[in-house]
Amino acid sequence: MMFLIVFSLLTVCVTSEDPENGVLRLKDVPAAEAFINSTEVAVIGFFQTDAARGYKEFLSAAAQMTSLPVAVCGEQEVWARYGIASDTISIFRKADLHQEHLNLSEAKKVDADGLVRFMTMNNIRYVTEYNQASAVGLFQSEVKTHVLLLANRGRTDSDPLQERFRDLAPKYTGKMLFVLVNGSEKSNARVLEYFGLESRDLPRVGIYDGTLDEKWLMPSGEITAERVQSFCDSFLAGDLQQKEAGTSEDKTEL
Ligand SMILES: *[C@@H]1O[C@H](CO)[C@@H](O)[C@H](O)[C@H]1NC(C)=O
Ligand SMILES: *[C@@H]1O[C@H](CO)[C@@H](O)[C@H](O)[C@H]1NC(C)=O
Ligand SMILES: *[C@@H]1O[C@H](CO)[C@@H](O)[C@H](O)[C@H]1NC(C)=O
Repeated sequence: MMFLIVFSLLTVCVTSEDPENGVLRLKDVPAAEAFINSTEVAVIGFFQTDAARGYKEFLSAAAQMTSLPVAVCGEQEVWARYGIASDTISIFRKADLHQEHLNLSEAKKVDADGLVRFMTMNNIRYVTEYNQASAVGLFQSEVKTHVLLLANRGRTDSDPLQERFRDLAPKYTGKMLFVLVNGSEKSNARVLEYFGLESRDLPRVGIYDGTLDEKWLMPSGEITAERVQSFCDSFLAGDLQQKEAGTSEDKTEL
């Protein structure tokens, strides 16, 4: 609670909304740190001036990305803090402790649609909804192990299974990315197929490891936080991988 109060005072003192376009301007390092700390995914447009190439396109893309907190910053002290040398759009992520930098002077073409794609792809959260755009970001992440909740989902996000996932995910920061696969979505049929599942088998939990290009399914049954946690832990301990090797040996013996 104390932290919240200090935090909001800090935010009020050192940042202000630009009346021209309503975008948050970061005035100094504490403001930038507070902004980045405040959210799972933060986007900062580091622009020397408002006339810089890409600035208008950035604001236009930001206006379309209503779910992503966006700020701009031209303060050199902040640039130095984050190792920015020229106009750059940066994404700061908590789930895989990643910073993605788009160097604008190196970009061939800068348009709002391209920037929207860049932000959408890189919008990787503690729990990320799987779709064509997020799939790119997920596979580009250095965190190669994905824990998937495959479920037939309705319209709402208020689902106890998802809550369990959300509670667990931060414990695996930098080790595993948690992903929701909506089994009712036709475009996700291939993911179900990959795990050998059909819609009527859901919900199930699986792990995909991109380094080994292998998958494991948590045995069916109730999906409790404890079971998912021990499934994840047994992967991290290497036990799942061994069991899998054992199973295939058993098969060859048969
Ligand atoms: C942001 O988080 C980092 C790392 O947890 C911490 O060192 C820093 O003090 C935080 N900054 C603010 C302004 O909350
Ligand atoms: C961005 O690209 C320019 C031109 O190649 C280069 O001078 C600059 O150092 C790069 N910035 C970063 C942060 O890498
Ligand atoms: C899951 O997919 C179905 C079918 O496309 C859709 O109606 C539903 O809204 C989706 N649920 C979520 C939470 O996106």
